[in-house]
Amino acid sequence: MKISFADVDLERTGALVVLVQKDRVLGAHGSALDAKTGGVLTRALAASRMSGKPGECLDLPGIGAGRIVLAGVGEGADLTPQRCETVGAAIAAALAATPETSAAVIVEDGLGVEPALAAAHLLHGARLRSYRFDTYRTKLKDEERPALKTLVGLTANASQAKKLYGGLDKLGDAVVYARDLVSEPANTLYPESYAARLQKDLPDLGIEVEVLGVKDMKKLGMGALLGVGQGAEHEPRLVVMTYSGGKGGAAPLALVGKGVCFDSGGLSLKPAKSMEDMKWDMAGSAAVVGAMMAIAGRKAKVNAVAVLALVENMPSGNAQRPGDVVTSMSGQTIEVLNTDAEGRLILADAVWYCEQRFKPAAMIDLATLTGAIMIALGSEHVGLFANNDTLADSILAAGKATGETVWRMPLGDEYDKMINSDIADMKNIADGSAGSIIGAVFIQRFVKDVPWAHLDIAGVAWGKKDKGITPKGATGWGVRLLDRLSRDHFEPQ
Ligand code: BES
Ligand code: MN
Ligand code: ZN
Repeated sequence: MKISFADVDLERTGALVVLVQKDRVLGAHGSALDAKTGGVLTRALAASRMSGKPGECLDLPGIGAGRIVLAGVGEGADLTPQRCETVGAAIAAALAATPETSAAVIVEDGLGVEPALAAAHLLHGARLRSYRFDTYRTKLKDEERPALKTLVGLTANASQAKKLYGGLDKLGDAVVYARDLVSEPANTLYPESYAARLQKDLPDLGIEVEVLGVKDMKKLGMGALLGVGQGAEHEPRLVVMTYSGGKGGAAPLALVGKGVCFDSGGLSLKPAKSMEDMKWDMAGSAAVVGAMMAIAGRKAKVNAVAVLALVENMPSGNAQRPGDVVTSMSGQTIEVLNTDAEGRLILADAVWYCEQRFKPAAMIDLATLTGAIMIALGSEHVGLFANNDTLADSILAAGKATGETVWRMPLGDEYDKMINSDIADMKNIADGSAGSIIGAVFIQRFVKDVPWAHLDIAGVAWGKKDKGITPKGATGWGVRLLDRLSRDHFEPQ
């Protein structure tokens, strides 16, 4: 879909989108169009159930110079850039149900957001909602393919809108890149191919990519990560990415991602139904990749590093057994009672490596770690665990600002005790209660003295239905939050 901006022009042919505020209030442009069409907009609104709530759309085919789509924005004065994105998403969804190949959104003046900024965010939201992963669909009929080829934002100060959109476009590319990684099946995206893809795509953005293989990890003593990967034909990889946009020597922001390219559970095998989803058990790592791309894409003045632990968790004659004891890079030993609690094992070595090598200013790991977090928070919030209140508050704020909302969960000695083992320093599961917290306190044992946060994204990495700016499927959750976090809390203001 091609996105552009132009001055407001009510004479335009093709589909026109008109914004409607709370209680069916039209703005100046909408009212002018209403007058021009003999009051058809007000009549249609009066005959409909649409009241102007954000996300509502009313399609009026065969009206005006083609068709008019009315799109609710809610209380005009309360409009925010984030809400513009939701509205843009709803517009994209409404247009997708029509055969229109081109459409223009008329952005009103006098709303809570400057028209140029509103236009940029409206179209950014539309673009994110229009994401599709069609790589493996060979039989799509023409009418099943998206018809919409161009979307224009009609706004006062179109050149400013274009400039603002330019920044968001890079962020959009990063979200799309993350979604593509998550959507890719495990027979094509495995540690080696994943790492190769990053080595090919990221250096052009100014991100250095380093790939550690099994030998390197053995040398480093990463027994916890290697234990998870040992049953698979596809060998594990550790990917290290660095972006240096900040002051030389300044401690970086560090991101760590769980990249289990397929989680069968290992010998603690998952039932078939639960295994269906497990190609996206690498979504934490994909969000980290996307965040690095977003940060580098806008040439942010920050030093950022990322560590991705890429493995496949498979059963085989060489697989790790329940009861095995492995030695992590930190020297701590782990009794692996359940091979399906593998995310914490690979993160143990990844966060330890990250802290030791980079001495970061803050370290945040993202992981589809537990089914329990879905039971606790559903897909409305991500579970946040942190050893530092300032970092936690910054993440909460970035979540609110982007709509990628998080909810803080507890850590503590009482939970930590529950993973003491009878024969090793710790075990990788407890008694089943407080499942997500147990995952977090386990990772915490591999964090020495850096501000650290863990985001359990199992509930949001994949959407079962369309929701706002994310169509069903891979969401790319975390890219926007992490980009915002870096911008607001780790970069010069
Ligand atoms: N990858 C899963 C968690 C998961 C479940 C993500 C469902 C997305 C959807 C993780 O590796 C896992 O298997 N966790 C176990 C932990 C348990 C064995 C302590 C779980 O949640 O059941
Ligand atoms: Mn698992
Ligand atoms: Zn997993």
